[in-house]
Amino acid sequence: MKIAMIGTGYVGLVSGVCFSDFGHEVVCVDKDPRKIEMLNRGEVPIYEPGLDTVMARNVAAGRLTFTGDLAAAVDGADAVFIAVGTPTRRGDGHADLTYVMAAAEEIGRALTGYAVIVTKSTVPVGTNRQVAAAVRAANPAAEFDVASNPEFLREGAAIDDFMRPDRVVVGIETERAREVMADIYRPLFLREFPVVYTDLESAEMIKYAANAFLATKITFINEMAMLCEKVGADIKAVSKGMGLDGRIGNKFLHAGPGYGGSCFPKDTQALARIGQDFASPCAITETVIAVNDRVKRRMIDKVVDLCGGSVNGKTILVLGVTFKPNTDDMRDAPALTIVPALVGGGARVRVVDPQGRREGEALLPGVTWAEDPYAAAEGADALVILTEWNEFRGLDLGQMAQRMAHARMADLRNVYPPEDVREAGFEAHVAVGRKGFGLEG
Ligand SMILES: NC(=O)c1ccc[n+]([C@@H]2O[C@H](COP(=O)([O-])OP(=O)(O)OC[C@H]3O[C@@H](n4cnc5c(N)ncnc54)[C@H](O)[C@@H]3O)[C@@H](O)[C@H]2O)c1
Repeated sequence: MKIAMIGTGYVGLVSGVCFSDFGHEVVCVDKDPRKIEMLNRGEVPIYEPGLDTVMARNVAAGRLTFTGDLAAAVDGADAVFIAVGTPTRRGDGHADLTYVMAAAEEIGRALTGYAVIVTKSTVPVGTNRQVAAAVRAANPAAEFDVASNPEFLREGAAIDDFMRPDRVVVGIETERAREVMADIYRPLFLREFPVVYTDLESAEMIKYAANAFLATKITFINEMAMLCEKVGADIKAVSKGMGLDGRIGNKFLHAGPGYGGSCFPKDTQALARIGQDFASPCAITETVIAVNDRVKRRMIDKVVDLCGGSVNGKTILVLGVTFKPNTDDMRDAPALTIVPALVGGGARVRVVDPQGRREGEALLPGVTWAEDPYAAAEGADALVILTEWNEFRGLDLGQMAQRMAHARMADLRNVYPPEDVREAGFEAHVAVGRKGFGLEG
């Protein structure tokens, strides 16, 4: 199969690289010339574990190329994937379809023979039909079908998720499109990963419903965590006791500083908007959005309380700012709410993050970036664990405490047992959904 992949971001690049690893001939396209230059030099523009190796292997095999020339990539392709961004539209929460529709038009103009135009971007119900209309308007003679193929990979584990998915969802309308999609995904089908064929609208709904459900699960446990703090329960024990129930499952039951990232915030907002547009409100999702906001803000109060009521003039070391470990993605990270509030409150904030600096520098003005957590702990008044990178899970807490002016910890990912924190010499500790110690008042 010959595949053109439009957009080489977290989804497009991983999908293009993995399709080439299936043996397909893939041309990845991006309108950002800087990304294409990097890719042509063999560099990966994003941080995604393992991606460089698979990419290099397939470039060397001659199956994977990169270009800024969309028309050349589309010419002769059996399938053209749209994997461009669908951020939140400013002001109303809708998914911004500007990039998708622009790509559709460009693809329409470039089509030379039959191809399936596949939307991989997360898009509201009805978008695939709009894509078809845009292609037809740009090129009335074009021979094509559309397919909806939402992506479920997780940043940080993207290669494995793409190669060993829980399921592949394909919305199609014609047998011809189904055959092309079946050929593309044959390597997964042969290894018995489920491929679910549906109509276009159902495929579009599945993606939003799945993400809203996961965001709900996280938010539910975060709300339970707030209650645990009041009633004296420990959310870790509660999560464990709940998660062992096979009907509930233990995933996405870790209390923390609220969900963030490139998908949950925008997808929950877009779903809420779709519900309003169709006069079928998604009340649960709307509540989840509001509660998550509250959860993030509550983290600020925790740090302020830890510092005795004000962070003004305090030196605070923040470990981790990306929205989760193993990615450099900062989009809608809780750090973007919490860190500016600390800076605004007069704190001197030092940040250590293994991959976050490149994106984070522009997004977090007024902070000082450091490499080594121990050196950065020197003279600090509080330590805040915001993203649970592996390098922050095994810290020598005794050494950290010794270096700090005031050994106080806000463990917003519940990484360390409170007893260990106390034994290491910390004088005060707050976590999420469990009892802290050493707080005044
Ligand atoms: N990031 C994730 O974890 C994830 C997971 C599942 C689904 N998704 C969905 O996948 C889509 C893409 O997300 P992402 O995180 O990869 O976005 P991204 O912003 O990282 O990448 C999008 C890329 O598309 C390029 N682009 C935009 N318009 C173009 C055009 N007309 N021609 C060529 N290139 C163009 C941009 O330059 C950019 O490099 C979104 O709809 C998102 O919701 C993302």
